[in-house]
Amino acid sequence: MSYQIAVLAGDGIGPEVMAEARKVLTEVERRFDLNIEYSEYDVGGIAIDNHGSPLPGATLKGCEAADAILFGSVGGPKWEHLPPNEQPERGALLPLRGHFDLFCNLRPAKLHTGLEHMSPLRSDISSRGFDVLCVRELTGGIYFGKPKGRQGEGENEEAFDTMRYSRREIERIARIAFTAAQGRNKKVTSVDKANVLACSVLWREVVELVAKDFPDVELEHIYIDNATMQLLRRPNEFDVMLCSNLFGDIISDEIAMLTGSMGLLSSASLNSSGFGMYEPAGGSAPDIAGKGIANPVAQILSAALLLRHSLKLDEAADAIERAVSKALANGYLTGELLDESERGNAKTTAQMGDYIAQAVREGA
Ligand code: NAD
Ligand code: IPM
Ligand code: MN
Repeated sequence: MSYQIAVLAGDGIGPEVMAEARKVLTEVERRFDLNIEYSEYDVGGIAIDNHGSPLPGATLKGCEAADAILFGSVGGPKWEHLPPNEQPERGALLPLRGHFDLFCNLRPAKLHTGLEHMSPLRSDISSRGFDVLCVRELTGGIYFGKPKGRQGEGENEEAFDTMRYSRREIERIARIAFTAAQGRNKKVTSVDKANVLACSVLWREVVELVAKDFPDVELEHIYIDNATMQLLRRPNEFDVMLCSNLFGDIISDEIAMLTGSMGLLSSASLNSSGFGMYEPAGGSAPDIAGKGIANPVAQILSAALLLRHSLKLDEAADAIERAVSKALANGYLTGELLDESERGNAKTTAQMGDYIAQAVREGA
C-alpha cells in the first residue's frame, strides 16, 4: 500500500519538531515496510512571506489530494500586526478545519510513567495518575458563529462574536465522545456553562438524548469553571471530557500542562469520512523557537494518531507510542520538563527525535 501525506510544518517550532516526526516516520516505514510519500507545503506566516497568503491555493490542493495532513503550528509576533482574517490562525488553521469539516478533535492526555514528578500537581494527586481524552467540537461554536466583527466608532465602537450550535453539530460530536468512552473507562463528562449560555442548555439536552443510546457509559455534566478546578484536584476521576470548541481549547491546554508540558499533547482533527489533520495542541512557541530545545513528542505522537486514524496502521502507531513512552520512562527529556537544577541533562529536539526513531528501529 502507498500513502500520501501533506506536510505543513508552518512557523516557529513547527519545522523543528516536524523534522523529528519525519525521522520517526522514516523508521516506521522501514520497519513495517510501508510506502509513504510526503509533499511539503507552506502554511501560515511562512506562506504569507513566500506567497502573500496564509493558505495558498497550492497548499489547499495538496491537502485535498493527500490521505492525511500532518500539521506543525502557525502564527507568531511577526504576523500579529496584520488584519485578523489575514493572520496565520484565522487565515489558515481555522479555514483548513472548516474546509475539511474536521469537527472532531481528539486530544489524549495521560501522565506518563516517569513523569509523575514533572507534573505541577501536588504529589499525592499526581501519584494517582490520570488518563483523559478531550473530545473537542472543532468547527462550530463561538469560533465560527456569524455575525462576528466590529462596528461603530469612538467610544461606541463594539466587537461581537456569536456562539451558535445546532442539534446536529452537538449530536455528532457527542456520539464520538460516548463511543470513545465505551473503549475506555466508560465515563463522559460533558463540559458546559448551562447556568448562563443558551448554547449550553441545548448542549445538555442533546447530550442527554445521545446518552440514552449508550447505557453502559456514565454521564456527568460539569460547568467549565468547576471543570478547570476539579482537573487540578482529582484528574484521575475524568475519562472522556466532551467539550464545545472554546471550552475544549481551554481544557486541552490545562490537561497538557498537567502531564508536565504543552509539548506532550498531540491531536487528531477528523471529519466523518476519517480524513484528518494531525497537529500538536500547542502553538509555534515563539519564546523558544530557533533554539533547538522544543519538545517534539506532541508532533511525533500526532504522527502516530495519523497512522492510527487515517491510515488504519495500528501496529505502526503502537510502535511510535511505545518508543515515546520508553524515552520518557528512561528520563530522556527536553528542558521544559526538568527542574532548573537538572537542565544540564536536557536533551535537544534532535536528540529526542533520534532516540525515539532508534527505539522504533530496535522494535519498541
Ligand atoms: P504556545 O502553545 O505556542 O506556547 C505556550 C507555552 O508552551 C510557551 O511557553 C511555549 O514555549 C510552550 N510550548 C509549546 N509547545 C512546546 C513544545 N513543543 N516544547 C516545549 N515548550 C512548548 O502558545 P502561545 O504562546 O499562546 O501562542 C504562540 C503562537 O502560536 C500564537 O501565534 C498562537 O496563535 C499560535 N498557536 C498556534 C497553534 C496551531 O498552529 N495549532 C496552536 C496554539 C497556538
Ligand atoms: C489550538 C489553538 C487554536 C485554537 C488557535 C491557534 C486558533 O489554540 O489548536 O488549540 O484555538 O483552536
Ligand atoms: Mn489552543
